[in-house]
Amino acid sequence: MSSAAVYIADIAAHDGKEVTISGWLVRRRSSGKVQFLILRDGSGVVQAVLSKAEVPPDQWERASELTMESSLVLRGKVRKDERAPGGYELDAIELSILQIAPEYPIGPKEHGVAFLLDHRHLWLRSRRQHAILRIRHEVISSCHRFFDERGFILADTPIFTPNACEGTTTLFETDYFGDRAYLTQSGQLYNEAVAMSVGRTYCFGPTFRAEKSKTRRHLTEFWMVEPEVAFASLDDIVALAEDLICFVIGSVLERRRPELEALERDVAPLEEVKKPFPRMTYDQALELLAKKGNAIEWGGDFGAQDEEILSTSHPRPVIITHYPSAVKAFYMAPDPERPQTALCVDILAPEGYGEIVGGGQRIDDLELLRRRISEHGLPEEAFSWYLDLRRYGSVPHAGFGMGIERVVSWICKLDHLREAIPFPRMLNRLAP
Ligand code: 4AD
Ligand code: MG
Repeated sequence: MSSAAVYIADIAAHDGKEVTISGWLVRRRSSGKVQFLILRDGSGVVQAVLSKAEVPPDQWERASELTMESSLVLRGKVRKDERAPGGYELDAIELSILQIAPEYPIGPKEHGVAFLLDHRHLWLRSRRQHAILRIRHEVISSCHRFFDERGFILADTPIFTPNACEGTTTLFETDYFGDRAYLTQSGQLYNEAVAMSVGRTYCFGPTFRAEKSKTRRHLTEFWMVEPEVAFASLDDIVALAEDLICFVIGSVLERRRPELEALERDVAPLEEVKKPFPRMTYDQALELLAKKGNAIEWGGDFGAQDEEILSTSHPRPVIITHYPSAVKAFYMAPDPERPQTALCVDILAPEGYGEIVGGGQRIDDLELLRRRISEHGLPEEAFSWYLDLRRYGSVPHAGFGMGIERVVSWICKLDHLREAIPFPRMLNRLAP
């Protein structure tokens, strides 16, 4: 086949010309002397029209054997057609079949979630999952653009670690040549070391938590983007997180409209996401919860239901600061005005999606940090390198982590985080 190989997304530039498209069959229908083949190639979908009179007889016969997800290469002439979904159709000239697929397990009928998850490797080809993959890509690439444009240096943090960052109850333990190692829960501690070198850094990687309960908001393997800034305060990183969220939402709205449409996502609530976000302290959040009939005692952490109430209270993401230190990680700096609370922040996404960002200002005082490590029952030896950061030119610093799947889930308005990642890992799922 000698004509230009093109992607369906670029077909408009070839109007009236011959092109070659390689793809998979979505659907075939026939009306006697014409067969209509709907093809997808990953970049888009197009209808090819195969006329009995125009193609060699053996190809016409073979075409009638094409099943869903069969793979093929098609040469044809691009023709503008207002009625076609993408505005163009292909008049087929030559068809070459790579493989005829046996009956495809995923049909248009409704399938149970367990079945779909078992077939995740195939489920990914469906229109919805395809749209989610593309939006996830946009979320990730916009995070990189955001930090790059602002002078942050990307530094990869390790996945095997000797220490816990976010408490010891969700650690995945593994053998490391006879020693104990954990899969990282967060790159933060290493980010802090890098920030003392480059000032502004971020890491982007998989993080692991042995979440032992089944929820819609927890994966055991998830991706997190984590900035860390030297000489920054809580307020500085709250502003940074607000900017990041607006940037990511703006990028998806600008660049992934067709995918949002494919998901039938109402974009009006996303268009509401502008600065400033409403901000309240933990104490004020308690008052709001009490007013909504969900009173909890001071000192308790928010459960899924509390987060849902708080995150439906406003059309924009809600910033909550100054949680009780006791419900937060060991490294959180206490508020000098009220030391039982921490200079920390959670940002809850609207529409009931709950926490998407967690972070705050870190303890920069050596003795206090030591005390906290011991109060949290953590082994000081494992943190000796981390304590060095408070020995050699300690400075106030702050950062946060944003969960990619939580953000994707909110943007796509998914019921469950499992669709926000290509191959989800959960309590009862390690395959495919
Ligand atoms: O609030 P977390 O636990 O904060 C940290 O890990 C900090 N060390 C980050 C930092 O300051 N550098 O987690 C951060 C975010 C949450 O807000 C949530 O979006 C996401 O990570 N997250 C999860 N996402 C999916 N599944 C889970 N099990 C998650 N746990 C946290
Ligand atoms: Mg958190």
